Amino acid sequence: MPLTSAATITPAQRLRGRLRVPGDKSIAHRYALLAALADGRSSFANFAPGADCRSTLACLRQLGVEISEGPDGAVVVLGRGPGQLRSASAPLDAGNSGTTMRLLAGVLAGHPLTATITGDASLSRRPMRRVIAPLERMGARIQATDGHPPLVVHGARLHAIEHHPDTPSAQVKSAVLLAGLYADGTTRVVEPAATRDHTERALRAFGGRVDVDGLAIAVPGGQRLHAQALSVPGDFSSAAFWLVAAAALPGSRVSVDEVGLNPSRTALLDVLRRFGARVEVVVTATEAGEPRGTITVERDRTRSLEIAPEEVPGLIDELPAIAALAAHGGEVSVRGARELRVKESDRIAALVAGLRALGIDADEREDGFVVRGPAGGRPAGGVADARGDHRMAMAFAVAALAAEAPSRIDGADAVVISYPGFFETLDRLVR
Ligand code: S3P
Repeated sequence: MPLTSAATITPAQRLRGRLRVPGDKSIAHRYALLAALADGRSSFANFAPGADCRSTLACLRQLGVEISEGPDGAVVVLGRGPGQLRSASAPLDAGNSGTTMRLLAGVLAGHPLTATITGDASLSRRPMRRVIAPLERMGARIQATDGHPPLVVHGARLHAIEHHPDTPSAQVKSAVLLAGLYADGTTRVVEPAATRDHTERALRAFGGRVDVDGLAIAVPGGQRLHAQALSVPGDFSSAAFWLVAAAALPGSRVSVDEVGLNPSRTALLDVLRRFGARVEVVVTATEAGEPRGTITVERDRTRSLEIAPEEVPGLIDELPAIAALAAHGGEVSVRGARELRVKESDRIAALVAGLRALGIDADEREDGFVVRGPAGGRPAGGVADARGDHRMAMAFAVAALAAEAPSRIDGADAVVISYPGFFETLDRLVR
């Protein structure tokens, strides 16, 4: 996908309005995968429209799963039943999506077939040993190039393991639990810190059994899953950019409806309160164990923020948005976030380079960054490079709203990964 287009961001006075955001990417990947493994016909409303979840659907189609798509994010998946994915005639392309590659590796590890999973240049640089090692311990064989994609997964009869990942990662946890569905015995993952628990909630929603005891999650092997009709809540990590902008710009007030409120995703709300914003949350429904509702954020004060290492797993996808907060005033300091270096881009390097290019004072740390907002006045604005990373493009757009002159975001098309229509929504909210 060429990620070459540029977006121009005009400085804004305030953001006001009420909106919905596209369906949650993390949840949609899981619903599609579990539906493919389940018995029967699943249907989803508000399925995530971004390119990452398209990659998951395309890979599943290549594995013999019938999937149809209707308007407004309607997706129907005909489940093949446990262990029934078919060999693909060509490599499976996970595109830019780490979740697709890692979760699919877990699913395929328990299938009696060989499959190759490739990705784009960014995904090909990302570390895969974290899934290869536990899946090989379970009995699969996975070839990679120095721990990087493409992955050639040779599935096998799996046996259960207890896995203690070194780094908190929902993708690693999920890959092992999905493989564990078809292993002999009970597979256990003991996390070093809690990560998003969509896989656990989705497995239960599809009729599966998952036992959670603190940081230990156990899945018995030999399970059958059952098709479901579900709607996907809005993606909190996409809403995050509007919530941050509303907290930062004087006179702002934004409400996001039908957005996912899973507590393992919403740590940003407390960060915004600490920053000095007024934040109101109303839970309106819970479906498949996933709460959803309305978040309203209103600008009040601007304080400096320190994000401690133990907060990082709960904020991992929101740290780019949090960096953009300080472009508007105050100071944001983040430690213990080395994981950001192995995301869609090296997000520490990309954030600091892009914010500096916009005239904002920012410094890298080996495991984080510090961004110092303007002490009075506005940053100059400039040209920031998203480096092909969707969350960089959106973070720079929010930062550039603070500038005194229009700015340009190069590679702005990267937003299609998680938030097609981001710039159109921005236009509407600043008016
Ligand atoms: C995700 C887990 C996180 C997150 C990513 C989506 C998921 O990655 O950053 O955007 O859907 O499980 P890690 O598991 O690598 O922390």
